[in-house]
Amino acid sequence: MPTSISFARGAPCPEALSADVIAACAAAALRDDGVRVLSYGTGNGYPPLRELLAAEHGAQPDQVLVTNGSLQGFVFLLETLLSPGDVVAVESPTYDRALLQLTLHGMDVLPIPMDADGMDVEALAAACEAGRVPRLLYTIPNFQNPSGATLSAERRRRLIEICDAHDILVLEDDPYGRLRFEGESLPGLWTMADPGRVIFTSSFSKTVAPGLRVGYLVSPPAIAAKLAGAASRTYISPALLSEAAIHQLIAGGGLEPNIEKVTALMRERRDAMTEGMRHMPEGTEFTTPQGGFFYWMTLPAGLSADELFEPAAAAGIAYVKGSDCVLEGGERTLRLAYSGVGPAEIEEGMERLGAVFRAAAVTTG
Ligand SMILES: Cc1ncc(COP(=O)(O)O)c(C=O)c1O
Repeated sequence: MPTSISFARGAPCPEALSADVIAACAAAALRDDGVRVLSYGTGNGYPPLRELLAAEHGAQPDQVLVTNGSLQGFVFLLETLLSPGDVVAVESPTYDRALLQLTLHGMDVLPIPMDADGMDVEALAAACEAGRVPRLLYTIPNFQNPSGATLSAERRRRLIEICDAHDILVLEDDPYGRLRFEGESLPGLWTMADPGRVIFTSSFSKTVAPGLRVGYLVSPPAIAAKLAGAASRTYISPALLSEAAIHQLIAGGGLEPNIEKVTALMRERRDAMTEGMRHMPEGTEFTTPQGGFFYWMTLPAGLSADELFEPAAAAGIAYVKGSDCVLEGGERTLRLAYSGVGPAEIEEGMERLGAVFRAAAVTTG
């Protein structure tokens, strides 16, 4: 059995996790505010961190809910704002765990196709015109999980126009936006839209450390109060030491250098995977991401990423099947995360994966 190389996990590589920096932040948090950090707090999270995040987003602290990971915030939102049968629009493909939660909560999922410029917003408009108006639109506008695509500036404007026209609440999930390798950052939907239209969510899992489990939501005040109630009912208060450590990191000026470091590591890995694409069979389609953690690939006609999952595993390579990121279809697609492994492993992994796919292409061709 060859050593295994995982392109499956959307997690930062070990080199991106700065244990010494976080140790110093946690020590400072306990020294400066030990009693509060070690006590039960309010359901909506550590107040000093909420204040910083509120200021960053031009909101009031009461609008910010800091959760044990942003996926938890997503679940609170489903539980408090929506009811089974509600129409929720998502990009197709979308984040597999979000899709799973929507399905588990009985939502009527409306998949909106996407291309290299993000969601096809005219397809959303057409669905609305045809009477399928979602209550919520879930979008990952920057370096999307799983496609790596970024919603263009023009589509951002049009998206807000459509959501205003049909009164659709938007959930903007942006854990990858700060990890940009090249090109200009685009304004977020939260900043572009009128107040009340957008809920913003992000996480420190990709920019600092997923094990800290610190994510957050910034919402209109009435929604924020409901979310805070759900948090307090579920876990009384979130893990305050993690939140206080992140607060120390931001307040002490350590977040920006950390993001620069992680961005450089991810750029190196993205470049290694771009190089490794030469191992893929002729006719494989992909677009090089400008940031984030993921490459999305479409295999040539006749090849199935679902069927080749086991042969790839036998060669020691793991990936996420595209079919797990859509409601139906997607058999020719897969997600490759370059984030968690080193450049040399990426080259080796792409060589092995390419060999599996090329062998299958010869058999089917
Ligand atoms: C788009 C997106 N949203 C949310 C999450 C969940 O992040 P967290 O670790 O904060 O729960 C992920 C993690 O993969 C993600 O890709």
